[in-house]
Amino acid sequence: MIGLRHGLIKGARISALGVSIPERVITNEELSRTLDTSDEWIRSRTGIRERRVCAPEQATSDLAVLAAADLLARNGDDARDIDLVISTSLVPDMIFPASASIIAHRIGAQNAGAFDVQAGCTGFIYGLACATAFVASDIYEKVLVTGAEALSKSLDWTDRSTCVLFGDGAGAVLVTPSENGSIFSFDLGNDGSGADKLNLPAGGARLPASPETVAGRQHFLKMNGREVYRFATRKVVESCQKTLADAEMTPADVDLFVPHQANIRIIDYVSEKLGFRDEQVFANLDRYGNTSCASIPLCLHEAEQNGRLKTGDSLLMVGFGAGLTWGSCLTKWEL
Ligand code: ACO
Repeated sequence: MIGLRHGLIKGARISALGVSIPERVITNEELSRTLDTSDEWIRSRTGIRERRVCAPEQATSDLAVLAAADLLARNGDDARDIDLVISTSLVPDMIFPASASIIAHRIGAQNAGAFDVQAGCTGFIYGLACATAFVASDIYEKVLVTGAEALSKSLDWTDRSTCVLFGDGAGAVLVTPSENGSIFSFDLGNDGSGADKLNLPAGGARLPASPETVAGRQHFLKMNGREVYRFATRKVVESCQKTLADAEMTPADVDLFVPHQANIRIIDYVSEKLGFRDEQVFANLDRYGNTSCASIPLCLHEAEQNGRLKTGDSLLMVGFGAGLTWGSCLTKWEL
């Protein structure tokens, strides 16, 4: 049964996972040495204690390549068997070409098609939906989805209202056919009227790079935090309810809930609204901050390592972000 818009999709599963976590740690205390902020403010408003930041010479595709290499090494897969590479990120290496083209080339996926998905921080869920559709409809057998962010390169490190929130990292998953019929149920949503609430204003066709855009610091991420907070709490709950209803499941049937890691207050609010118990909810943003498209695969990896995500578990994932977009996915963990 296939039906991405409404209902259930059978025949695809996540069959491999890899991550890349930059070594450099920046604590709240370190930030407070150069910014008018404090560990107390950041922790109490967001739950973040520290974040990872990539090396100066690294870009998004470098982190994605490391995550994909980790996946291939763990799974013993040959990159030449991959049919399609989908790269998801808020900040790709360049406007064009697609980061996916660079990633596919560098991992040796020489027989794969490649494209980027731009859906803000919901990119990973959107990419997973694309991969699932390709596999469940029998077009492809092996689709690699990366969620990678070198977000530190697009942050205004003088703006305390944004730079304290984000971090770098990457994850990758392989979507392949499922012999015993994993069930995926998705909800993807968008409200472009909120495009100005979270964006990187300059450098595209709307506001090409100029001395004025550089002087105006318009090549950095801008966000209206309060509005995004309001949007996220509403849409995340609705999306999860819809995805669960499509699969005829309730929160009680979910073994692990992995929400996008933007703010612990958002996670606590939506978890309570949905009726999840603490032990059903996974959070690691205290150590990584908001890694955008990488946040869900980083959680999956840690949850699996800690024994919180086991073969056969029901897993609900939800993302939200620039667009404004949102999306959720329900699946059985079959790794
Ligand atoms: N340190 C100290 N003070 C600060 C800081 C800081 N780092 N940042 C802001 N402040 C100040 C503000 O200037 C303001 O001061 P004022 O009252 O004198 O004007 C005060 O703190 C309160 O600011 P608010 O923005 O109202 O703080 P709020 O409680 O709303 O928290 C936050 C801000 C954490 C950004 C919150 O709005 C939030 O989490 N929003 C959602 C953001 C989000 O989820 N983004 C991700 C979306 S998708 C993606 O992943 C890209």
